Amino acid sequence: MQRPLGTVISTDDSPTTLQYAFVLDEQSPVKKGQFVQTTSEEGIVFGYVSEITRANRYFERAESVAEYERETPIATHFPIKSWEYAIAEVRVLGRMEKREEHYFQSRVSLPPSPGTKVIEADDLLLKDFVGFKENGLLLGKLQNHDVEAKIDMTKLLQKHIAILAMSGAGKSHSVAVLLEELMNRPKEQGRIGIVIIDIHGEYIGFKQDPNYGRRVRVVTGKDISIPFRRLTPQLFSSWFPDVSSIGRNEFSKVLREMKVQEKNERQLFSVTDLIKKVEQSPILKGTKDSLLRALYELNLLRLISQSKENPKLRQQVLPGEMLVIDLSDLDDMRKKKLIVSYLANRLFKLRAKNEIPPTFLLVEEAHNFAPEKAKAVYNPSKSIIEKIAREGRKFGLALGVVSQRPVNLSTTTLSQCNTHLLLRVTNPNDLKHIGESSEGIDQRMLRSITSLKVGEGILVGEAVRYPIFIEIRDRKSRKMEKGRPLHEQAVDYESNANKSEEEQEEELEAFL
Ligand SMILES: Nc1ncnc2c1ncn2[C@@H]1O[C@H](COP(=O)(O)OP(=O)(O)OP(=O)(O)O)[C@@H](O)[C@H]1O
Ligand SMILES: [Mg+2]
Repeated sequence: MQRPLGTVISTDDSPTTLQYAFVLDEQSPVKKGQFVQTTSEEGIVFGYVSEITRANRYFERAESVAEYERETPIATHFPIKSWEYAIAEVRVLGRMEKREEHYFQSRVSLPPSPGTKVIEADDLLLKDFVGFKENGLLLGKLQNHDVEAKIDMTKLLQKHIAILAMSGAGKSHSVAVLLEELMNRPKEQGRIGIVIIDIHGEYIGFKQDPNYGRRVRVVTGKDISIPFRRLTPQLFSSWFPDVSSIGRNEFSKVLREMKVQEKNERQLFSVTDLIKKVEQSPILKGTKDSLLRALYELNLLRLISQSKENPKLRQQVLPGEMLVIDLSDLDDMRKKKLIVSYLANRLFKLRAKNEIPPTFLLVEEAHNFAPEKAKAVYNPSKSIIEKIAREGRKFGLALGVVSQRPVNLSTTTLSQCNTHLLLRVTNPNDLKHIGESSEGIDQRMLRSITSLKVGEGILVGEAVRYPIFIEIRDRKSRKMEKGRPLHEQAVDYESNANKSEEEQEEELEAFL
């Protein structure tokens, strides 16, 4: 049963069809941010507690309070406690009509009358209002209510999601919860493939988990290998945009000849062979040198091999399964970007040809791969991430971007993410940027982002009909990270340092 909360009062500017205030019952369990309902002649008026104020007549006049308190506390003279009251302000969200087993929202044209009782919002009404789905992804609970936040998968992901917060606020935790839900979906409800660009090796725990491990594959950065046959003029020019068009033509010509040879003579080639051929080609020295510089760099990257392909996206992106691209063993940022650009491009192509299932591509630290400042031409991962953000929806390629620096994240990407999960953020620049890029978020909500606790967030956009505060649930899967806590590393370091001192002493003694 819904608990009673208070009674609608008459103030200078309410009740109206937009807002009303109610005085709290004694022991009223109401909280700021809670959804409440009252009635008018039209039916249920549904709203949201935007603020609570306490008042007490005894404390209204500063000079009397000061005078009394000089002697002894006012409480010793008067029954002040019984004169305290609290008023909740409510923003009216709509009128809810129940038809069959569901509530439907419509416009309010009459305010509730003063004197009407206000009660907690009905759970079913809340679910219908927010747009939760019975078979949705269980990300946590609605704050202030015992209502599970089950979000429709299509609405959450199809038009892309951005998970934004400062470091340590719970972004990766929320992603892990989302991944569990995606992997636990039954076939009948539609399962998608999952590819994670894991920068810190935070998702490798899924591989060790008895419940998920069988459906998880981890590929580490150093093992990533692109077969020579996938090297194309397009790939080359996106990786090396500085090579002149004459250089690119020459590259295409040499490559074409090699591919013919590869086919006819069943011979495998490598980047070294390509370099040799270009060295022998009769083009102008300047063009040749710049092309060769690019090819030397390509060779140094150690990404292209004769025939080894890892990961094999066509075989390894599967419904309800997860492919973790663990880049934590690579230091070279450029190499990471090139890997992301290659994999994302290939996912896009495979998906366009329907050779892999509909897929969710999640990119951690997305501001590094799609930075606002860099030009897309010089940043191949940025151009493909923006492309997926713009066009992925049509092909069933959903994008998730995670970032602790939203200001640095490409605005094209951010604005194409129709759902935002916002966890704690305190940096004013980031907050401003979020305010500008998250549609449907108002100033009041924006302010409360700074006071969110770890694991609390605001979900806003396509996935929900109204922005909601959500408490992300605990993980079910195994948490395992590559990085160890600072204090453990420190203890380790010192014990090693001591050991080597001891060793040195021993050596010295032996010598003497
Ligand atoms: N909803 C939650 N319930 C319980 N623990 C949580 C929750 N959210 C986050 N945590 C814990 O808080 C810590 C930080 O979370 P997490 O690693 O997800 O932060 P992050 O935003 O990804 O940080 P970074 O930007 O450094 O990657 C972790 O130890 C995590 O387990
Ligand atoms: Mg993280």
